[in-house]
Order: sequence, then structure tokens, then C-alpha cells
Amino acid sequence: MFPISQSQSETRGRRVQMPLTLKVSSDKKLPHPATHGPRIFADTAAISEIEPLFRAGIISGVTTNPTLLKRAGAKSTSQAKEISIELLKLLHPYPVSLELTRLTESEMIAEAMELASWGENAVIKVPVGGYQAVDPTYDPYTGLKVIRALWERDIIINATLIFNSTQALWAARAGAGYVSPFLGRLADYAYKNDHPEKAPGNSLYMVEDHKNAKGDQNVFNTEYVACGGKRKDIGSRLIQEIAVIFSNYNIQTEILAASFRNFAQVSESLLAGADILTVPADILGKVADHPLTTAGMQSFYEDSKVFAE
Ligand code: E4P
Repeated sequence: MFPISQSQSETRGRRVQMPLTLKVSSDKKLPHPATHGPRIFADTAAISEIEPLFRAGIISGVTTNPTLLKRAGAKSTSQAKEISIELLKLLHPYPVSLELTRLTESEMIAEAMELASWGENAVIKVPVGGYQAVDPTYDPYTGLKVIRALWERDIIINATLIFNSTQALWAARAGAGYVSPFLGRLADYAYKNDHPEKAPGNSLYMVEDHKNAKGDQNVFNTEYVACGGKRKDIGSRLIQEIAVIFSNYNIQTEILAASFRNFAQVSESLLAGADILTVPADILGKVADHPLTTAGMQSFYEDSKVFAE
């Protein structure tokens, strides 16, 4: 990890103002030690994956996107709506992020109003950029303008597809309640940039981008470029930058770390100061299942048999 230039206590000071992670009944004598963050969300739209995690009290929110809805079985707009409404009901009052599929300003605002009407716990995911392919009047500020318009309408926004800390700051200034830095995609991109020979034909990462990325500070932060692109912690570094900037200026927008690939990224983003982690169910499901935990349980269990005699 990079050294943190901000004192840990100031970062913590910001965090205690965040919403409570757990509802604790007032007649409990023993205070719960972990009522404030980090919150864990499930990054999936599959009810079968979400329900056990929710009932076990592990997750307190869900994030979806069109890819995840498709993976959960939605084959049409109405099926996507059906799944989304089911998620909103199951998770209520906890937040469920629903992503916009329209990409022009007026259509995005209209679609956001529709999605927000499905449940009071709906959070609207707005990509921070503009998208020329569908918008002939391309405007790179489209996403930010939509965020501002929705904030004015009291709709909670999750600014998504964040890849640098300035995007996060601008999204917060526009009125986003959450920003989602995609640390896994950034790490994937960095890995493929460092190992072009291993890069698979993935449509997310175009070949031309690989060739150009080393000098491209729009993709990677300055430090990554300065060190020759060898930083594996590029994603957690991004979270750390956002956490320090938000702390410095007392910005209450929450950092929702997204796009996880492994356990290491989970702990890295917690160390970096993420407020919330949205983690795929397959990673969440394996957390408790460490082979050394099982081996330890087995040996203690075997040795405890002597006490029963
Ligand atoms: C976050 O809200 C997104 O749904 C998600 O984390 C994207 O992750 P991916 O890079 O695995 O698609």
C-alpha cells in the first residue's frame, strides 16, 4: 500500500457520520462493536444468491447492472423490471442500485424517474461520462448533468464506472450519494497493459488501448505511469485517493468499491478507506470457507473428544 498522507483518525471521523450498518435493538446492554461500516453489498441480481446472504445479515444492499440482470435470467425489459422489483422488495429498506440503460440526457432522466418509482430504496446508477455511439450531440458531461438533475429531484444516485479520483469528485459535486470505483477492471486493465502477450481478446480492452495505455494518464493515475505501470494495487490506490480527497473536504458521498476479482482486493479496498464493498456472491460465499479454518476445526474437534469420556 502507498503511505496515507491523511491521518487515519480524520478518515474515521468522516466514517462515524455514515449511516449505521446494523440496526441494534435498544434493550441490548452490550453495545454492538461494529455498527458503523464497512457495509457489504452483493454485486449480483440473482435472488438465489442474494437471499441467503441477506438473511444471514452479511449484506445490507445490492448492486445490479444490465449484465448482471441478463446473467440472472432477464431476457426482456419486463423480466428485468420483474427481477428488480423483487430485489427492491426483498432488500427494503436497504438500497438496490439499478443502472440506466438509456444514454442520452433526456432519456436517462426519464428512465431514472421510472426506475426510482419501483421502490423507495431504489438507487439509480448513472455512468459518469457521455456515450457518443448513441448520442449524436455527444457531450462528455452527460452523466454529470443527469446526476445533478436527479439530485434536484431527490433521487439517490450511484455514480458508476469511476476510474479516477477526479471523476469521483465531480460526481460528488454533481450530487451523487455513492461513487463506484471499479478496482477490478482497473487491475485487469493494468495487468493486460503489463502483459500484452497474455491479453485475451476481451472487448472491454481494445488492442489499441493496450498499446497506448502506458502513457495515458486518463486511464491510469500519474503514479502508475511514473512507476512504469507496474503497480498491482492500482485499484486500491484509486480508492485511497478518493477517501483522502473526500475526507479533506468533508464530502459525505460514500465510496462504494466495485468490480471485485478476489479476496486480496476486498482487504485492500478496506485498508484504502472504502465505505462500502459490493462483492460478487461467489467471492462472498467463500470467505468463511478457509481450508486452514476447516483443518483447525477438525483437529480441535478430534482433541475435544477426550473431554467427553
Ligand atoms: C458495480 O456496481 C458493478 O455492478 C460491478 O462491480 C461491475 O463489475 P465487473 O467489472 O465485474 O463487471
